[in-house]
Amino acid sequence: MSQFDSVTLAPPDPILSLTGAFKADPNPEKINLSVGVFVNDHGATPILETVRSAEKRLAETSETKSYLPITGTPQYASLTQQLCFGEASATSLSNRVITADTPGGTGALRVAGEFIKNNLNTSDVWLSNPTWANHKGIFSAAGFQIKTYSYFNSSSLSLDYGAFIESLNSIPAGDLVVLHACCHNPTGADLSPEQWDEVALIASNRGWIPLLDFAYQGFGSDIDQDAYGPRRLAETGLPLFVCQSFSKNFGLYRERVGALHVLTDGGDEAERVASQVKISVRTNYSNPPAHGGAIVETILNDETMKEKWIAEVASMRERIQNVRHQFVSALSNAGVARDFSFLIKQKGMFSFTGLTKEQAQKLRADYSIYIVDSGRINVAGLTSENLSRAAGALKELLG
Ligand code: LMR
Repeated sequence: MSQFDSVTLAPPDPILSLTGAFKADPNPEKINLSVGVFVNDHGATPILETVRSAEKRLAETSETKSYLPITGTPQYASLTQQLCFGEASATSLSNRVITADTPGGTGALRVAGEFIKNNLNTSDVWLSNPTWANHKGIFSAAGFQIKTYSYFNSSSLSLDYGAFIESLNSIPAGDLVVLHACCHNPTGADLSPEQWDEVALIASNRGWIPLLDFAYQGFGSDIDQDAYGPRRLAETGLPLFVCQSFSKNFGLYRERVGALHVLTDGGDEAERVASQVKISVRTNYSNPPAHGGAIVETILNDETMKEKWIAEVASMRERIQNVRHQFVSALSNAGVARDFSFLIKQKGMFSFTGLTKEQAQKLRADYSIYIVDSGRINVAGLTSENLSRAAGALKELLG
């Protein structure tokens, strides 16, 4: 008899468990298209040059490892607000936005979830169908009932805009609605500016609360265009939550860096919201880890470094866009009959291939090609070396 007899075995994480399986696979030709991590054409995830410079500067100038404030430094708040909302708007919104420096986008989502569940009058959250596998876990852990809105047509492998709008129009006032700001994970199917305009209108008319998961700024079109959704929703005057991650665009995955922005009416309301956000942070991790945030702050606070960082993000984005084109050609050259040209239209790291769970598992077992069971691939995992092998495997699998 053990106290742990009551512990049941949890299923492995649908995304992160594949990294372990990939590492353990002895096949020298194995290909990892599972977790959303950028790799260059040599299959490496190097530290960005701007990050390296910022770390050197910090190593020479940092004076303490004492605690940060519960929600991080005011400078981090202001710089990340500028990135999210644009410099001009950030200045006018600064008295209304509450920012917390969080451990990654996941930390931001969890703090937001807990704050909303404990302080606002809702316990229903609406997630995109499909969505990032961890959204459900995060919001369930914060005490929410999970509901889904239509987003993607799995036959045409594209955004089902009509069904999406119909769903948004049926969501009750006060419920929380999680939207992907750009580079929709897992489908890569994004909203156009006009479609965001309509979403903003529906949010205003219906009175539900938008929360934008913003993990891929710069990986879709560019830093500013990818921020259209958060910036447009900020104009509505509605309460708004934005969860930023700097894992991908600063390549700071393991440092766990992100930010939660809550748009309030300002004044006394801002003060009350800030006090409760602090409670969520304090009871979860007390105050944020410093190193990753200090890197982001150093880069964004130095015009030359920031310009260089924007160029580094552009070169990651361009590589992903090129690979999308190359993969579509490689599939057609390999004689794959199915039309994969939709890959070119999708944005960011991910594409929904339409492959079934059985096909994903067969790719893993027979070809050592790792994709998520949902059929999601991380396009950035394709390189000049593995592209034709991946296309050949798909030819054998699909004919
Ligand atoms: C992904 O979707 O692969 C990334 O966001 C990594 C993760 O934590 O799941």
